Amino acid sequence: MLEISNLEVVYDDVVVVLRGISLQVPDGKIVALLGPNGAGKTTTVRAICGLLDLHDAEATKGAITFDGADLLTLRPEEVVAQGVVQVMEGRRIFIDLTVEENLRAGAHTRRDEARQQEIDALMERFPVLGERRHQLAGYLSGGEQQMLAIGRALLVKPSLLILDEPSLGLAPRIVGEVAQVIREVKERGVSVLLIEQNAALALELADYGYVMENGKIVLDGDPTELADNQDFQEFYLGIGAEGRRSYADVKLYRRKKRWLS
Ligand SMILES: Nc1ncnc2c1ncn2[C@@H]1O[C@H](COP(=O)(O)OP(=O)(O)OP(=O)(O)O)[C@@H](O)[C@H]1O
Ligand SMILES: [Mg+2]
Repeated sequence: MLEISNLEVVYDDVVVVLRGISLQVPDGKIVALLGPNGAGKTTTVRAICGLLDLHDAEATKGAITFDGADLLTLRPEEVVAQGVVQVMEGRRIFIDLTVEENLRAGAHTRRDEARQQEIDALMERFPVLGERRHQLAGYLSGGEQQMLAIGRALLVKPSLLILDEPSLGLAPRIVGEVAQVIREVKERGVSVLLIEQNAALALELADYGYVMENGKIVLDGDPTELADNQDFQEFYLGIGAEGRRSYADVKLYRRKKRWLS
């Protein structure tokens, strides 16, 4: 299980971006982390994956553990060795390599024969990739690229897969296909931390969800609880929204309404 407790992260020694967040991803579950642009979602992923240094950031408080291992002290490749693998925002695939070459590159730590078997099995499970195995990845559609990025991550045999906005920029029909892939990942027993701005998608897939704003968790609950929450509906599902800017604004607005009535 992944456990983040009271994590504070600062960029360039001054900019506090995470202000004491706590969240958990239990084994075998899909947990969604929602929130608007700039909330600190990607920063949370960087903290988990040992990438803070690279971005001149530092965890100044709190802890992150995975099955007891202290992730904050590990280098990125050591985090991967613990079974925690991420698919970065904007799907970093090699556009000049074919689909199959991309998968081979992703599985570089494994022995040749076993590796090829796993790649073949993956292509069978995701025919979208199989049918395009010799095609340059740069020519794949956004959704296909996302599936390739997820497929490549799966070859590392993660116990926890972190997806940073997998639906970003995808047409609704393709989002459905990516959602199906995420369901299959869970069926294989892999836990998923799903970062999303598409709240409807996140609620559909997740076992539990957290809402983050301005570096803090402002709401959490299981999908039915979140969907029933009026503030959440107004801001994230756009039901009854009146152009308000943030979840905090919605709460303030509702409080004001109560005072006035
Ligand atoms: N390298 C950096 N140096 C300084 N500030 C940064 C850096 N990277 C991100 N930030 C700031 O940290 C805050 C959180 O950014 P982050 O990328 O974590 O948000 P996010 O929730 O992933 O947003 P998005 O939905 O747009 O991807 C933002 O205000 C951003 O400007
Ligand atoms: Mg982000």
